[in-house]
Amino acid sequence: MTVTASAPGKAILFGEHAVVYGKPAIAVAVDKRARVTINEGTTDHIQLKIPELDVYASINIDNGSITQLTISGEVEENPGTFDAGIMQYIKCALFQGELDSPLDHGLDIEVELEIPIGGGLGSSAAITVATLAARARYQEQELSLENLAHIAHQVELEVQGAASPLDTTVSTHGGLVYFTPHRGAVNIKTALEIPLVVGYTSQPGNTGILVAEVRKLRQAHPTIIDPILEVMEEITNQARECITRGDQKRVGELMNINQGLLDSLGVNTLELSRLVYQARLAGAAGSKITGAGGGGSIIAYCPGKTREVLEELDSIENAFQVGISTRGVTW
Ligand code: MEV
Repeated sequence: MTVTASAPGKAILFGEHAVVYGKPAIAVAVDKRARVTINEGTTDHIQLKIPELDVYASINIDNGSITQLTISGEVEENPGTFDAGIMQYIKCALFQGELDSPLDHGLDIEVELEIPIGGGLGSSAAITVATLAARARYQEQELSLENLAHIAHQVELEVQGAASPLDTTVSTHGGLVYFTPHRGAVNIKTALEIPLVVGYTSQPGNTGILVAEVRKLRQAHPTIIDPILEVMEEITNQARECITRGDQKRVGELMNINQGLLDSLGVNTLELSRLVYQARLAGAAGSKITGAGGGGSIIAYCPGKTREVLEELDSIENAFQVGISTRGVTW
């Protein structure tokens, strides 16, 4: 039996980091996905292929140990650098105890990725959601979207140490959403076109580390960082209204103010800053880091200027246009 599930990545327009402290965020599911295909195993291990990352590995079902393989499936005699990071999400999703049946036989799994890893675009959430959905389908288990999003968040917490449920919620449900950790996601209705360009640096960001650093900064300067998080909340709430009523100019301005505050939290880098400013010079109405920062990506909102911003960012680093996906997980 072959089953496939896929889930979208996401871009945060407002409120990253603040959302970890219970504040709202606005995010979109993007039209770039992670796709997971499961077949019955040809061995009694889990054989995993992620061709885009050049990852070929075998996971022992009994003890979870990972062995690097060659592309043709033999044990790699000279194991080199290996993206163990992303493997941890897949392994944790496959071994997650909250799904009813434990795995009792080998599987062949292939992961196809359209989302850059560590790019701030929710690759780990998309992979986790798609892996859980494919596993549930393979084991013929009923799994509601709410439960899937909840279990995917548990996986992110276990692997990363800290994560809000934002990425896993958006990847599960899709759309353009206003999200609060205690109330979940509400769709934002808008007549506004939201043309977005992502510029991503060659340096990946590590969400777990960045969230921990912001936490340390907050502990050291609570009377300064708490008001910053409150202003971020106000920006997100105003942005929701501006998106709903179609005020492009203010949406852009609010993104730029949000960027200044992200910089003050210490998650900006020289490369990200360069992309943010170049996007604005090329005509973006607003541009900011998207996701945890420290590397990864920026997002530029560019009504009427998509081609100019895309060309400009692509001449410095990598860039691509993203559309909003109303489709969440499919399986
Ligand atoms: C990660 O995409 C965004 C952060 O707010 C962390 C989180 O929400 O888990 C930095």
